Amino acid sequence: MPGDETNESLNMNSIHNARIVQLPKIPDDRGNLTVIEAGRPVPFLIERTYWIYDVPGGEVRGGHAYHKNQEFFVALSGSFDVILDDGKERKIVSLNRSYFGLYVPNMIWRHLENFSTNSVGLVVASLPYSASDYIRDYELYLDALRRQMHVND
Ligand code: TYD
Repeated sequence: MPGDETNESLNMNSIHNARIVQLPKIPDDRGNLTVIEAGRPVPFLIERTYWIYDVPGGEVRGGHAYHKNQEFFVALSGSFDVILDDGKERKIVSLNRSYFGLYVPNMIWRHLENFSTNSVGLVVASLPYSASDYIRDYELYLDALRRQMHVND
């Protein structure tokens, strides 16, 4: 369950398990503040944070899945689209508010596109960076899904 605080890889490789999460917003005349903590409401213990910025117009990021890593995306500034694909279905999630995040389980193929000028995308991740956790070939991703289904039969 995404509600459980776990960094275990989960067998949740359906785009229906990706979800928008509303983040706490502390309004203030001096400017608003939003906070994320491990497990609240990010549904995993945060091991890593990175951000994507200075994206040239028309560029695409991502284009891969992770065996184990779970991620949580926030458009800190501006907007971008996250395209999710689980081998069966595809959906586009537009992020354009700094108080909404998108939770994406492991084993979901994703790419990011349609970045607005000066947008900043925050990504918090459940695992440290590991090149071997990436699946960068879509056909290999489909093979990995089939293997996983076979193991779970
Ligand atoms: P990548 O994850 O492929 O970028 P994106 O999915 O946004 O297109 O990473 C791009 C490069 O940055 C790649 O050489 C790996 C490196 N990188 C790290 O060293 N540490 C990290 O935490 C991340 C996310 C990437």
